[in-house]
Amino acid sequence: MKTTRPTMYGRAAISSAAVLAALAALLPAASPAAAPSKEEGVAAFETVRAVLQHPRCQNCHIPGDAPLQLDDGRPHTMGVVRGSDGKGAPGLPCATCHGVTNPPTSYGPHVPPGAPTWHLPPPERKMVFIGLSSGEVCRRLKDEKQNGGKNLDALFHHMAEDKLVLWGWSPGAGRAPVPVPHDELVAKLKQWIAAGAPCAP
Ligand code: HEC
Ligand code: HEC
Repeated sequence: MKTTRPTMYGRAAISSAAVLAALAALLPAASPAAAPSKEEGVAAFETVRAVLQHPRCQNCHIPGDAPLQLDDGRPHTMGVVRGSDGKGAPGLPCATCHGVTNPPTSYGPHVPPGAPTWHLPPPERKMVFIGLSSGEVCRRLKDEKQNGGKNLDALFHHMAEDKLVLWGWSPGAGRAPVPVPHDELVAKLKQWIAAGAPCAP
């Protein structure tokens, strides 16, 4: 018995090693937990950047003090300005014209679009997207001093769920929605965060 037992253990060890090797061969494809590389993270952020710098988003994410309009980002008409809290000048708040939903399609193009809390970021944290390189917008986005104290999880939820963000996919008559599907933005954000939220140089 003393001679057969080690042999049996040996056989068991070989066969479980073979099973483990077979499993290991399957793992890279089967495991969703495998973290994407830094390069994959930077590539995923490129889709996020393209969304942030689409006119539907960047028209409010501006270095200046007046929102922009239309696909060519011309200055907002009627002397509209950011104001001390992003909600417009005291005499002409955004809410004078912008409601919580888009007006009915039957009103035609060039009516003020609407979404809950339609306003600009405040002057002390302008949350600029426009005119920045991929690396710059990535680092700016992650800087909690500039983004209103949002960690990566909060940034993710903002872009996945915020009503002002979702408006970019149903912007009302006469305005092109963001062309990257919202699901794809969410998937690329997850990938970027899983890779450690890397930024291009
Ligand atoms: C006096 C009315 C009025 C006020 C006040 C006003 N807007 Fe507008 N806004 C409009 C109209 C009308 C349009 C649509 C222009 C068009 O599509 O030709 C518009 C369009 C916009 C757009 C363009 C959307 C796009 O992607 O094309 C943004 C951004 C915007 N407004 C932001 C603001 C913000 C922020 C405020 C407050 C600081 C504000 N507006 C105040 C009337 C107003
Ligand atoms: C009407 C103006 C407006 C539009 C349009 C808009 N945003 Fe914003 N965005 C804001 C405001 C205001 C805040 C600040 C909100 C807060 O602090 O709660 C903000 C904050 C953000 C933030 C978080 C903070 C940061 O540092 O940037 C992200 C990300 C963001 N927006 C993405 C988008 C995306 C993506 C779109 C287009 C699909 C978009 N926004 C369209 C007004 C706008």
